[in-house]
Amino acid sequence: MDKRELLAIAEKAKEMAYVPYSGFRVGAALLTREGKIYTGCNVENASYGATCCAERVAIFKAVSEGYKEFEAIAISGGSKFTYPCGICRQVLVEFNPDMLVIVGDSNDDYREYKASSLLPEFFGPKELK
Ligand code: THU
Repeated sequence: MDKRELLAIAEKAKEMAYVPYSGFRVGAALLTREGKIYTGCNVENASYGATCCAERVAIFKAVSEGYKEFEAIAISGGSKFTYPCGICRQVLVEFNPDMLVIVGDSNDDYREYKASSLLPEFFGPKELK
C-alpha cells in the first residue's frame, strides 16, 4: 500500500469527524497485515474526557473485528503534521512497536516514524508477563 494512498484515505475519514467542541478534525487509516484498511475519526463528547481520538477509533474497530496485526497508520488532522497524542501512542505500541506512523498530506509533505520512536522506553505487554 502506497503511503500517500493511505494518507488520502485518512483525509477522507476526517470528513466524518464529530467535533462540535474543538472543530479540530482528525482522520486515521490503519493498514492490517492482511491488507485490510480500517478508518477512524475523532468523536467528541459534551463530557470532554469521553472523547476518543481518530487513531483509537480505527484500532478499536479493527480489534473488535478480529484484526490485531498492524503495519501502518496514516493520520490527517487540522495541522500540517498532526501527531498522535500520548494515549494513542501507547495504544499503537501495544499492538506493534514497529508499526509505521505516517503524518502529513497526501499531496504534499509527509513524515514517517516507527511507533516505538514516538514513545521511547514505553510500558508494554512484556512488563506484565
Ligand atoms: N485528536 C485526535 O483525534 N487525534 C490526535 O492525534 C490528536 C487529537 C482529537 C481529539 C479531539 O477531538 C481533538 O483532536 C482536539 O484535541
